[in-house]
Amino acid sequence: INIILLGPPGAGKGTQARILVEERGLQQLSTGDMLRAARNSGTEMGKKVADVMDRGELVTDEIVIGLIREKLSEGGNGFIFDGFPRTLAQADALGHLLDETGMILDAVIEMQVEDDALVRRITGRFTCGNCGEVYHDETRPTKQPGVCDVCGSTDLRRRADDNEESLKTRLLEYYKKTSPLIGYYYAKEKLTSVDGLGAQEAVSRDIAAVLNGR
Ligand code: AP5
Ligand code: ZN
Repeated sequence: INIILLGPPGAGKGTQARILVEERGLQQLSTGDMLRAARNSGTEMGKKVADVMDRGELVTDEIVIGLIREKLSEGGNGFIFDGFPRTLAQADALGHLLDETGMILDAVIEMQVEDDALVRRITGRFTCGNCGEVYHDETRPTKQPGVCDVCGSTDLRRRADDNEESLKTRLLEYYKKTSPLIGYYYAKEKLTSVDGLGAQEAVSRDIAAVLNGR
């Protein structure tokens, strides 16, 4: 199956995507992760997008569509689109790419979380630089301070755009450019909304219920 996780910054898309990878063997396609990887390896594209990302603005459709096109051309058996599409142009492009490769979009899961909770989630987040596990100062700390539970790495990082100023811009970008996708996929009869405010396990159960109904 191929699904889209749709929701504002901090809604828990990455967290739930990692669980789906574990449980269903799907492949996570996070354009945010791909862009950060390009930055870390210092490619031309990575340098070009760095400032835009740190400010919390969207990078161009052309760049992210290119990244997704490349991944889809490698094939696979089931994708989770995490943080893509984020504009109507990206949604249309994804539709064409899936058609071309004979793939079907099974579901779009909108994760609803109110703004106050998003701010708390983003400002408390840190991730493992080695394995990518996602943590939170209050709701999901590491068992041993400074050490990743999963891989034992001490390379725990905070994102440059996880500050209140950039987060405001990210929220605005979401409401202006990405939230129209809710209506877009509703009209295509692909949309299911889940409450993303509950505990991680509760949200996973709700998502599993949507996917099992497919
Ligand atoms: P991206 O990396 O996609 O960031 P985002 O959409 O802002 O999403 P986040 O990664 O911040 O949040 P998430 O929903 O994955 O939450 P998480 O699971 O980590 O994009 C970054 C930038 O890249 C963009 O601003 C843009 O510049 C660029 N970009 C990327 N894609 C693009 C595109 N398609 N087009 C244009 N530009 C693009 O959870 C957050 C925190 O909450 C964690 O600490 C977690 O532990 C905690 N948490 C999770 N679930 C729960 C729960 N149920 N209860 C309590 N805490 C929880
Ligand atoms: Zn780790």
